[in-house]
Amino acid sequence: MNPVIMPAMPTKYNDQATVLRELMSDKKGAPLLKDKITGLRSIAILSGKGGVGKSNVAVNLALALADKGLNVALLDADLGLANIDILFGVTPKFNLGHVVRGEKEMSEVVFKVGERVSIIPGGAGLKELAELDEQSQSLMVNRLSFLEEETDLLIIDTSAGIHKNVLSFAMSSDMVMLITTPEPTAIRDSYGVLKSLCLSTNGAISIGLVVNMASDEKEAFFVAERITSASEQFLSFKVPYLGCVLWDAKIRESVKKRKPLLLHETESVSFPYFRALAQKIYESSEEGQLSKKPAKRDTFLLRLLRQGGNKEK
Ligand SMILES: Nc1ncnc2c1ncn2[C@@H]1O[C@H](COP(=O)(O)OP(=O)(O)O)[C@@H](O)[C@H]1O
Ligand SMILES: [Mg+2]
Repeated sequence: MNPVIMPAMPTKYNDQATVLRELMSDKKGAPLLKDKITGLRSIAILSGKGGVGKSNVAVNLALALADKGLNVALLDADLGLANIDILFGVTPKFNLGHVVRGEKEMSEVVFKVGERVSIIPGGAGLKELAELDEQSQSLMVNRLSFLEEETDLLIIDTSAGIHKNVLSFAMSSDMVMLITTPEPTAIRDSYGVLKSLCLSTNGAISIGLVVNMASDEKEAFFVAERITSASEQFLSFKVPYLGCVLWDAKIRESVKKRKPLLLHETESVSFPYFRALAQKIYESSEEGQLSKKPAKRDTFLLRLLRQGGNKEK
């Protein structure tokens, strides 16, 4: 196993960490963290570095959760390199932009790729959503509600890094799944994302860590340990380790075949890991919450709409 070295923290991290600790602590010094995921309806998949497997994890996790009986929708919110359609070998004609411009209904944009799995290409729609004036925003609310009324869980695949739009996706979702690989560069970048998320939300955010492309569980655990302990030490933020997916040549083959691994490679190395991850997500939510119909609170797209945080400044 290659040694995985957490890069030394520059001094400025320490200074920021002190400020952050103060921001995130109540009068008794206890951290004000959202450590329990309740009413989980949306998960944004984030990473520091690109190419760590976000889209493949999003796709296979969606399928594994659908196998558990949930209706799952996968929103392709990678504004630069959208590719969920390619991973499923499909070519949807419409995207969220058509809904925002009033050209299509949400039901026409939700593209079914399985009995309980749909994909929604974000296209320019996510950006346009955030640019609507107040009157158009309120008209949009009903159209968007359709999606989350029809689905138990929305998984949002995002671009690498912590650009403004990714941050608003993270802040609009119930939980962030942060993906890293054992590469030191990926580890450092995922810590950077973690820090940004903590600073932007004062720690009021649920984040879970997943290590992808690990050579074995021990290596994954060691990687997770580096990140979780640095986060606790420098950011006073606890990041639960959700699990890992091992390096698997079958994933690469499945991308070439344009057929998600979970649909055909049941004997592959990574298959049980996706299933275990789905189980963990399921358990992380309060009993039965995932299959409940709309919670009486804003869902991902409505939060995003109201936030208007996607707007380029
Ligand atoms: N567990 C894994 N084992 C081997 N290759 C993987 C694994 N996960 C992803 N890959 C490969 O890594 C590449 C990047 O994956 P992708 O999901 O597109 O990453 P991202 O969405 O983070 O950019 C793809 O070629 C994919 O086949
Ligand atoms: Mg991707």
